[in-house]
Amino acid sequence: MRHFLTLLDLKSFEGTQILERAFELKNMQKEGKSHRTLEGKTLAMIFDKASTRTRVSFETGMYQLGGHALFLDSKSTQLGRGEPIEDSARVISSMVDAVMIRTFDQSMVEKFAQYSSVPVINALTDLTHPCQILADVMTYKQHNDSIQGKTVAWVGDGNNMAHSWINGATVFGYNLNLACPEGYLPDASILQHARDMGASIEVTQDVLAATAGVDLVTTDVWASMGQEEEQAEREQAFADYMVNDTVMRIAKPTALFMHCLPAHRGEEVAASVIDGRQSVVWDEAENRLHAQKALLEFLLIQ
Ligand code: CP
Ligand code: NVA
Repeated sequence: MRHFLTLLDLKSFEGTQILERAFELKNMQKEGKSHRTLEGKTLAMIFDKASTRTRVSFETGMYQLGGHALFLDSKSTQLGRGEPIEDSARVISSMVDAVMIRTFDQSMVEKFAQYSSVPVINALTDLTHPCQILADVMTYKQHNDSIQGKTVAWVGDGNNMAHSWINGATVFGYNLNLACPEGYLPDASILQHARDMGASIEVTQDVLAATAGVDLVTTDVWASMGQEEEQAEREQAFADYMVNDTVMRIAKPTALFMHCLPAHRGEEVAASVIDGRQSVVWDEAENRLHAQKALLEFLLIQ
């Protein structure tokens, strides 16, 4: 049995295989061809944080694959009343075929996986957001070629998305430049691990140095879920970290712009960029559906 707790759970060939299947599933869905490969299977979805894309994509994906998805949140289950993770994991996994979790601590998904008898998928923690990178790499390929050997620039917070871009560099073989302000750098051990695995990753505070000549520019909100109280402080720290037209002009003319969404226009990204010709954010959001359907098949059909 396999879990998907970070991108490091995938070997490179498996990442490629999942995305190839994602394109096949996307074509089948667009052509109205049945692909009910998970008939009779149930996915439990545990949400301790808000979500639009993740919930819609997993729930719709399971339905299209012939299965069923179950929405569970901490307010309406015993999870929020202190039932131990170990007990919840044993019980929930005894009745479903896979569990998807969006929560705060990465250790919660790890502990759940330890006691689960079925695959567990990390659907965002404070530390990582691996499902999003599957969709992002798929989106790059949709608009271009393979992302392998290309250079991605991350602008902004060294957060869960930045960490997953770092882990993803070891799986998908892209080079990564991160421009993060002092005090908001990515986790040093995640960075070191990726470098030890041979990934080419540069970290700077200079946005233009990070984005010059790159193939893809990406960013995320300045205050992630759970950091709302730091919004004002972060607005100051990140004031020079907006992806605007100047930044996009220094990247390759063919460079794409991505954002996992939700976005704050006028903060981390200018409206002219996210709504501009280089932006592929709507395909990126849609590809969550296709990439995760392929991931579900990968984990559930062995
Ligand atoms: N990108 C992403 O995970 O979106 P949601 O928070 O809406 O699920
Ligand atoms: N970094 C953001 C990503 C949202 C999909 C957050 O954790 O809120």
